[in-house]
Amino acid sequence: MSLPIRIAPSILAADFTRLGEQIAAAEAAGSDQIHIDVMDGRFVPTISMGPLIVKAARRVTQLPLDVHLMIVEPERHIAAFAEAGADSITVHIETCPHLHRIVQQIREAGAKPAVALNPHTPAVLVKEILPFVDMILVMTVNPGYGGQTFIPETLAKIRELRAMSTTVDIQVDGGIDTQTAPQVVAHGANVLVAGTLIFRTAESIHAAVHALRQAAGEE
Ligand code: DX5
Ligand code: ZN
Repeated sequence: MSLPIRIAPSILAADFTRLGEQIAAAEAAGSDQIHIDVMDGRFVPTISMGPLIVKAARRVTQLPLDVHLMIVEPERHIAAFAEAGADSITVHIETCPHLHRIVQQIREAGAKPAVALNPHTPAVLVKEILPFVDMILVMTVNPGYGGQTFIPETLAKIRELRAMSTTVDIQVDGGIDTQTAPQVVAHGANVLVAGTLIFRTAESIHAAVHALRQAAGEE
């Protein structure tokens, strides 16, 4: 039995002057969770948003808030994001020498732990952490910017991870659109993050969420 497909709009591509409205539109369109990209200007070149935005998002939606930490020393900020209302917190394995400890820290803070892999990081590095996490995030672009082109070589890694676990959620992030969605799903991904497609390119947020779900084979 395959896991249900979940659509996770990334607000990195949203219009920040109308953030509440756009999150509400994503929820009304049937999205499953809201993806919040936290960047520190160190692990990745750019700086984006922090717990204040998570707290604001918490006030305008019932959907789970899926917080993707692209920051060094994430252990210093877990409590702040959990208190702000994060339902799941994803840390990059490249930033965590003590991954098992931080995964426990996330669970103790009341959020679901997830681990992200950069495009060059091999699947085998998360093998031993799989029993402890709810989700693995396979970066399908190099983290740091929205609007980049999907890296097709990451498909093999998705398949490899799915062979390691039939129960863990496999999320993909970067360059996901109606062309790449069927490919990632065919290889075993079930949580699709999309920023540009949903907030920038489609005729409406509603149309984009539906098109993505259809491309993923759900409608
Ligand atoms: C990239 C971020 C992504 C990004 C995806 O570092 O983690 O979540 O917003 O953007 P698109 O869908 O535009 O590739
Ligand atoms: Zn992300």
